[in-house]
Amino acid sequence: MLSSFTTFSFPTTTLFGAGALKELPARLAQIGLRRPLVVTDGGLLNTDAFCSLAAALGEKAQGDRWFLYSGVHPNPIENDVREAAEAFRQNACDGIIAIGGGSPLDVGKAARVLVKRPGFNLAKFYDETDWSGLAPFIAIPTTAGTGSEVGRSSVITLDATKRKGVLFHPQLLAKLVILDPELTRGLPPKLTAATGADALTHCIESFTCPVFHPMCDGIALEGIRLIVEALPRAYRDGHDLTARGKMLVAAAMGAIAFQKDLGVVHSMAHPLSTLCGMHHGLANALCLVAGMKFCAARKPGLYRRVGIACGFDLMKVPGIEADRITIEFIGQFLADLGLNTKLREHGVKPAQLDALVAQAVDDPCHKTNAVPVEKEDFRKLYLEVL
Ligand SMILES: NC(=O)c1ccc[n+]([C@@H]2O[C@H](COP(=O)([O-])OP(=O)(O)OC[C@H]3O[C@@H](n4cnc5c(N)ncnc54)[C@H](O)[C@@H]3O)[C@@H](O)[C@H]2O)c1
Ligand SMILES: [Fe+2]
Repeated sequence: MLSSFTTFSFPTTTLFGAGALKELPARLAQIGLRRPLVVTDGGLLNTDAFCSLAAALGEKAQGDRWFLYSGVHPNPIENDVREAAEAFRQNACDGIIAIGGGSPLDVGKAARVLVKRPGFNLAKFYDETDWSGLAPFIAIPTTAGTGSEVGRSSVITLDATKRKGVLFHPQLLAKLVILDPELTRGLPPKLTAATGADALTHCIESFTCPVFHPMCDGIALEGIRLIVEALPRAYRDGHDLTARGKMLVAAAMGAIAFQKDLGVVHSMAHPLSTLCGMHHGLANALCLVAGMKFCAARKPGLYRRVGIACGFDLMKVPGIEADRITIEFIGQFLADLGLNTKLREHGVKPAQLDALVAQAVDDPCHKTNAVPVEKEDFRKLYLEVL
């Protein structure tokens, strides 16, 4: 076994380091997987990341010792999960390797539910409590944003509601995560920025949400520090493997932190994906500053420690001033990544406002926001960023 990679467990066993993917065959043998199903999306098939995976598994062994489902949509739908589970059954697979961004990772994670219970309606996920015995799952992210690889949840747009549903259960956790910065080298700057902004939003919203979880708070602050340092570098130079590695770790930290929960920005972002097809990270990025201003106005000083994590000396500054400095910094940080556009520049229409507001109010994330959010608040917030 190669010794140049780092392995740690928190709680998922994570193999970290440039080139770590090469260890996959040895790890598959350890776990006892002989016929894995690889779950990904069509876009990934043309990337170096996917070629590296195919090489690691043996290109000629596809259809014999490993199998492929590549039909995952961005903002995945229930049918993607059904199809992946069907491919698993048809090929008598014994585990799932998901490679890609949050979309394939979430589908790969959830497909095991339908492997265990064929024909099960995912909208009824919480009617069941025993999800033990799911097929082993290996997660290999190629974006650094969602952190889905270390999360216990899978975000799927459900048939029953046409909204993003979060399937959450500890049994959904991956058995092994491979964080290999080589696989994010080819991620284009726009996606690097948008997915990184998702990770940043996870860290900021989870730190400021009032649920008691001091461990997550510490992780969120360190995640912010890493993102502030590494995201501009990864955006400017995709081949900066140190920055790419830091972003992978920070994204995983963001997802661990949001076990605490999230807030108003994610409740604004989810309808922008389901109703307008917007990329999740971009949606968060375009709503983040408005959401922070909204919260700070009602809870002065909320962002002091976020600002300190960004590198400012704010210990003795009045709360309102600390918030102003922090929010101004985040606004400029996003602008430098090209993330300072308005929703309408991405095709969102004023006529969609009522539907967006209605879905945002129903979204569970804002229930744990730093301050309460009402329907009219969502309307004003959307108008601010429209
Ligand atoms: N489970 C969770 O905890 C969690 C958390 C946050 C978000 N999400 C979900 O994750 C999804 C978003 O995931 P995402 O932001 O990673 O995007 P994504 O998975 O939808 O991928 C976006 C695009 O990037 C491409 N891509 C991915 N890696 C690439 C690479 N290395 N090189 C070139 N192209 C590459 C894909 O082909 C795709 O076209 C949303 O559905 C969101 O709701 C889940
Ligand atoms: Fe997110």
